[in-house]
Amino acid sequence: NQEKMVALYVLLFGQICVASCVLPIGSQPEQVHLSYPGVKGSMVITWTTLNATESIVEYGLWGGKLFTQSARGNCTTFVDGGSEKRKIYIHRVTLSELIPGFTYVYHCGSEAGWSDVLYFTALIESTSFSPKFALFGDMGNENPQSLARLQKETQVGMYDVILHIGDFAYDMHEDEGRIGDEFMKQIESIAAYVPYMTCPGNHEWAYNFSHYRSRFNMPGQTEGLWYSWNIGSAHIISFSTEVYFYLEYGLDLLFRQYEWLKGDLEEANKPENRAARPWIITMAHRPMYCSNNDHDDCTKFESYVRLGRNDTDPPAPGLEDLFYRQGVDLEFWAHEHTYERLWPVYNYKVFNGSTEEPYMNPRAPVHIITGSAGCREKHDGFIPKPREWSAFRSTDYGYTRMHLINSTHIYLEQVSDDQSGKVIDSLLLIKDVHGPEAWL
Ligand SMILES: [Fe+2]
Repeated sequence: NQEKMVALYVLLFGQICVASCVLPIGSQPEQVHLSYPGVKGSMVITWTTLNATESIVEYGLWGGKLFTQSARGNCTTFVDGGSEKRKIYIHRVTLSELIPGFTYVYHCGSEAGWSDVLYFTALIESTSFSPKFALFGDMGNENPQSLARLQKETQVGMYDVILHIGDFAYDMHEDEGRIGDEFMKQIESIAAYVPYMTCPGNHEWAYNFSHYRSRFNMPGQTEGLWYSWNIGSAHIISFSTEVYFYLEYGLDLLFRQYEWLKGDLEEANKPENRAARPWIITMAHRPMYCSNNDHDDCTKFESYVRLGRNDTDPPAPGLEDLFYRQGVDLEFWAHEHTYERLWPVYNYKVFNGSTEEPYMNPRAPVHIITGSAGCREKHDGFIPKPREWSAFRSTDYGYTRMHLINSTHIYLEQVSDDQSGKVIDSLLLIKDVHGPEAWL
């Protein structure tokens, strides 16, 4: 018996040693994703390792000899706010002097480990470029219904850019940040091939949005909370609706963002700028309007984002008036796990271009709510009777495609994942005049 005990002890001790003495291989790059920094001929490549390593991207033109060029960047240690204080290493490398419209093959990492071989096409900078987008909000680690279809469509080159309108992973901070890691690995299949442009949602709230601010690299100096960039004939503004809700992180953020939005819109409206990039498109998480049957802000008349807050000192301005006065053309939202297309609307009033052609020279901004990419919270429902400003609603999982055709035409369509990729709604927005004068 004593011998048996000794044998058992040796076996157990051996297993404990195997479990505790073998460290995970942490120098292998993972979670590769791209963003466009808003500078001609450039692309930012971001990835994560579990150990500290160097940050190198090797790349070259598609069809040529592999990895003839190389660029270095930096690595920062990100510490999750949970009790484990888990660390990951986030690497950022900016490639510059890329040839617009050319496809590059790349891998990233260091001599301690390289990613798979991936590819992207450098964005064309011309204002006559007609980019294609996929856009959606509210996609999670669990139940990401739209992801498989998006993977295939992205990898065959259907999109130039992807816009993710807030709410990632559900939630990136969970399990000491491991859910964030898993989600970022999942979206590598789309985000490593085209710029993946983001805005924060309420699910990013933890530790003052630290996972969002650290994991994504957006243009500007605000860690992706608000920024703008140009593509083709459009000026695209991304901002945070969460500054209206998480006041514990500072009411000053709300005012700083408002002033920035005002300044950015004024700049975009300078005659020479608006002539070059006539479309002004916004994206942010919580909508000003929606007709869902939950208890969200937009189901009440007093949407904070739309009208501001008067329970703050000083009162906080809303955004509907600002966007209307500055002639914003198109506003993308998410948060509600549904798709809803609105008639051109301002202050709850419909301003269709005409009865026959509502979206031809509309006299107010057009809103689209697209938050049905798929997540563990499943669908939201609608109130039975749509409001008069609601043009089309769907509870199917799916995402939106946008083709920015030229300075007068934008085509949008809604893809249903539930119906095997069927296009269930579409819209051709035509504007001969942009800016506030279009409303007259
Ligand atoms: Fe949300």
